[in-house]
Amino acid sequence: MTAPLKHSADITVDVALGDRAYDIVIGRGVLASLGARIAALRPGVRTAIVTDRTVARHWLEQAESSLAAAGIPTSRVIVEEGEISKTYAGLEKVSEALIAAKIERNDLVVALGGGVVGDLAGFAAAILRRGVDFVQVPTSLLAQVDSSVGGKTGINSPQGKNLLGAFHQPVLVIADTSVLDTLSQRQFRSGYAEVAKYGVLGDEAFFAWLEANHAEIFSGSAAREHAVATSCRAKAAIVSRDERETGERALLNLGHTFGHALEAATGFSDRLFHGEGVAIGMVLAAEFSAQLGKISEADAARVARHLAAVGLPTRLQDIAGFAQEGLAGADALLALMAQDKKVKRGKLTFILLEAVGRAAVVNDVDPTLVRDFLQRKLAG
Ligand code: GLY
Repeated sequence: MTAPLKHSADITVDVALGDRAYDIVIGRGVLASLGARIAALRPGVRTAIVTDRTVARHWLEQAESSLAAAGIPTSRVIVEEGEISKTYAGLEKVSEALIAAKIERNDLVVALGGGVVGDLAGFAAAILRRGVDFVQVPTSLLAQVDSSVGGKTGINSPQGKNLLGAFHQPVLVIADTSVLDTLSQRQFRSGYAEVAKYGVLGDEAFFAWLEANHAEIFSGSAAREHAVATSCRAKAAIVSRDERETGERALLNLGHTFGHALEAATGFSDRLFHGEGVAIGMVLAAEFSAQLGKISEADAARVARHLAAVGLPTRLQDIAGFAQEGLAGADALLALMAQDKKVKRGKLTFILLEAVGRAAVVNDVDPTLVRDFLQRKLAG
């Protein structure tokens, strides 16, 4: 399949969760319809927009105008950009501001931003007055294809990422693909790792399409909407079957067990963006799968080749500062993986590949095999 040439009409993806079902509306310019869509969904509602400084500079006025045009009263809560806001202090700030804005049980919180804002605002909505509804307006590629869909909300503890949170589904997701034009190439690429993930974990045809059409996704042609919609459909299907991650949803963590350890080892700093950690993690998961005889070396190389083709890091040695500072050793990385909340009763759980396009959850992976594998990778 080649890339669609023209921007299509808006695409709506249904997240089929019974009486908590919701739409993901995808398209260039759909932010302008935010107010009308909320007014249709919740006549008479009041809203508060939670966003960060950078997103506010680009998109807050447009979001507010759309709400005002639909006659919806709104207030704004602006937080610092980045993980520094996904903390107890950030949650306190947002919660107190929402209470001061008199957001009641029947009102709506609007999360306008990337993954941090979505997780934080969603969690604040989940606990405010024992739960108010919220709308996700994701402004990063990563948030559009992953974090805004599926209802995972939360903040970090000093002891680890996302250790406090709630499953709280949004009532609507508005994914305006034109807002991605203001992202840096590095941010966009980082989100792209999550797009590629859907191909690698469950859809070989989509992966092949990405191999052929990735440049169009980056340039902002209609291929971008197709990629976002295909990713959202894949996630919606998995979430509707396993909302609380008792089984299949764990497949979405492909690349994340290695990736989170690498993020932690680099201090959750600009040395490694989340999606970059996922890209390296996916390649490690593919190579580890090959080592265990589950896929061929050629399949693992195919995954690495595509991610490298879009400019994503694929090796530990690609991490900024690796040559000067190195990285924690294999044992330290293993310890970081053991802290990950995806570990059950001390056993390592990995998402491994049975083919490009077919992942499986593998429990009880022998930690010594992982350590030996990492030692070899660290040695280059
Ligand atoms: N980001 C993985 C999930 O939503 O389950």
